[in-house]
Amino acid sequence: MNHETFLDDLSRIQQQGRWRTLRETQRAGGLLTENGAPRVNFSSNDYLDLAGHAEVCEAAREAADEFGAGAGASRLMSGNFALHEALEQALAELLGQETALVFPSGFQGNVAVLSSITGQGDLILSDALNHASLIDGMRLSKAEVQVYSHADELHLSKKLAAAAGRYTRVFVVTESLFSMDGDIAPLLEINSLCRSHGAFLVVDEAHALGVFGEGGGLCRDLNVQPDVTLGTMSKALGAAGGFAATSRIVRDLLINRARAFIFSTALNPPAAASALASIRLVRQHPSWGRRLLSRAQAFRDALTAGGHDLVEGGSQIIPIMIGENAAAMDYAQRLRERGLMVTGIRPPTVPEGTARLRLSVTLAHDEATLEHAAKLIGECIHALPDPA
Ligand SMILES: Cc1ncc(COP(=O)(O)O)c(C=O)c1O
Repeated sequence: MNHETFLDDLSRIQQQGRWRTLRETQRAGGLLTENGAPRVNFSSNDYLDLAGHAEVCEAAREAADEFGAGAGASRLMSGNFALHEALEQALAELLGQETALVFPSGFQGNVAVLSSITGQGDLILSDALNHASLIDGMRLSKAEVQVYSHADELHLSKKLAAAAGRYTRVFVVTESLFSMDGDIAPLLEINSLCRSHGAFLVVDEAHALGVFGEGGGLCRDLNVQPDVTLGTMSKALGAAGGFAATSRIVRDLLINRARAFIFSTALNPPAAASALASIRLVRQHPSWGRRLLSRAQAFRDALTAGGHDLVEGGSQIIPIMIGENAAAMDYAQRLRERGLMVTGIRPPTVPEGTARLRLSVTLAHDEATLEHAAKLIGECIHALPDPA
């Protein structure tokens, strides 16, 4: 086969300023080395610094000894261990849902759920900035998909009103804390719209779990109960694996219909055990999330004082909007040269013209590190050419 046939595709990607390469880093955490050079890591979603926690790592080792490194089969074959069931119970309790079902990754879980609970004759209303995994799940669904403006409950309410009586079921799908903008969906308003229009509410808590609501996420914090809570154990829980927390009926439907669940090997035992250990730690330390958010707020204030015009937000995810792809990558490179690992985020991850730096604060960053980083970032922004 002639692989050169793909060179045209690659050169198009390059011309669009979207060229991506892999850089090697060593282990998760707030401090790491990249190609041998020390960096403070602002590109990690290990928000509570649990990926390297002694108890979490020990749980993974013990699970590998007891159950093996891999599950060896799908859950419906011989890969359903007591560990999976214990993890699902712990997730359901943490999220205030009746039950839960875990998947090998958050991406896979989102695809599994959205492609199987929706179908022909249904309508899905999706926030404009929803994550790729939610979008791909909707693409696999036979339901009609309509996009509403980001976090815009008025636009959503118009779409719900227009949909009345025209569909078998209507679903509203949103992230709670948006991964690239660090802002929060108007969950109370969305929830009450769903209730008054008889629509199902599906919320992805990937970035809020472990941080908000004493670990239980933003919906828990606001006393909102989605029909399905989606999420991942790869971020604040420092492990891996996705989940859907929901009713027993919907769980049964997923087990019987979700192809990405049925035809995939079960979540590996070390990941399941480390996620379970992290959930225990989060429940024992309900103040960790608040501590993280207060550090992130201080960092935000320091960046603002240093001349950055930040988008409003109350989370540990802080975007610095740049606009052009090349400028964002150039800025990220300057920061890397000063010892900060910050990733430039470009389309198609974010809309065209909104390339940015995405900084995530984790509990691995102490106050002094954050203060120093804000100073370095401030120096860099002043060295940037003015946007044309
Ligand atoms: C909002 C959101 N949902 C789902 C996922 C997928 O999770 P995972 O990394 O476990 O596949 C991500 C990860 O980037 C995410 O940001």
